[in-house]
Amino acid sequence: MTLPAALGGPAAFPEPLPFARPTIEEPGRILGDIEAALASGMVTNSSLVRELETKAAAEFEVEHCVAVASCTLGLMLVIQAIDPQGPVLVPSFTFAASAHAVAWNGREILFADCDPDTWLLRPEDVYGDPALIMGVHISGVPVDYAGLAEVATDVGADLMFDAAHGAGSRVLVDGQLRPLGGFGRAEVFSLTPTKVLSGAEGGLITTNDAELAERLRLARDYGNPGDYDMRFAGLNARLSELHAAVALASLDHLETRVDHRNAVADRYRLLMAEIPGVGFQSVPDGSRSSYKDFTILINEAEFGASRDTVVAALAAEGVPTRPYYSPPVHRQTAYAHVVSPELPNTDRLASQVISLPMWSHLPLEHAEKVAAAVSAIQQNADAVSAAVQSG
Ligand SMILES: Cc1ncc(COP(=O)(O)O)c(C=O)c1O
Repeated sequence: MTLPAALGGPAAFPEPLPFARPTIEEPGRILGDIEAALASGMVTNSSLVRELETKAAAEFEVEHCVAVASCTLGLMLVIQAIDPQGPVLVPSFTFAASAHAVAWNGREILFADCDPDTWLLRPEDVYGDPALIMGVHISGVPVDYAGLAEVATDVGADLMFDAAHGAGSRVLVDGQLRPLGGFGRAEVFSLTPTKVLSGAEGGLITTNDAELAERLRLARDYGNPGDYDMRFAGLNARLSELHAAVALASLDHLETRVDHRNAVADRYRLLMAEIPGVGFQSVPDGSRSSYKDFTILINEAEFGASRDTVVAALAAEGVPTRPYYSPPVHRQTAYAHVVSPELPNTDRLASQVISLPMWSHLPLEHAEKVAAAVSAIQQNADAVSAAVQSG
């Protein structure tokens, strides 16, 4: 076994590994499409956006897709359109943008706990009297949409999903594997560079509700139907043709990318399964995660070193990490004014998470070296802790 870099051994990656890296399979095709868009003079919200919306609707098996400039804007516009007459319930174990979309609408937020195994909002986490419930498919693991739909009906709430991580995920519906996108009133995907499906920036709202889709098309264009008599206060949330060109090329490679990420995740899981104190997010039977992220948990008592020590020791190996999601949103400064109940699963997960490098063309050998580094750190836990503490 090699000595960890924190103890003077050779770094696993002398040239640090990127944490995430966009995969661009067809740069020539993208440049050609962008050149054509520039030549046409139509550089925003035009034929490439239309083509992306049509192809994404087919991919996600929904009737309508509305492309927007970001997932955050899409979430904001969906909440505005639903116009919940009461608080919006959001899991706290998520990226802050899920909550920001509620805050930008001036609505009250109810932060909810999550399942300790899947890390997702469950029906039993719903409390209070929400008018809207937002599920989030964390890392691409599909939320129990049917269970949440049932509880939403029981409490008289609408249901929507933050599907920022969900492109390429699959869930079992009546014995058939289905993509995410068609659950609740609407789902919103993100197209930033770290996502499996990317437009460099951008977002996609999917829905089977024609009226909602129509309203969202107006909303992304200031609320202007074309006559400059704004029907309501919308936003400029249009997607440019340049971003649509990147996203269209990305869409054609979605399956291959998700397959590769699943292979990387399998390798990570296999090689770290026996390391004491390392835990993983469970993927419910029959579901497929997009593996937008791959996050492990460090149980300090069993591992022998703290999460922060492992982060520092991995940095010494040239392995960057991210704390997805710590602090959880209800503990962030921006939400200090929101009174939340105890969220024990969220707090425990947040104290243990380390997200490891994951990209759609990450070589499997790199994942093997990362896993070996985690193992070596664990086997030298006491010495590594002492070395990290002494700086
Ligand atoms: C769960 C979640 N929701 C929303 C967003 C916001 O997406 P965007 O950056 O496209 O606005 C992100 C971004 O990573 C996210 O992780």
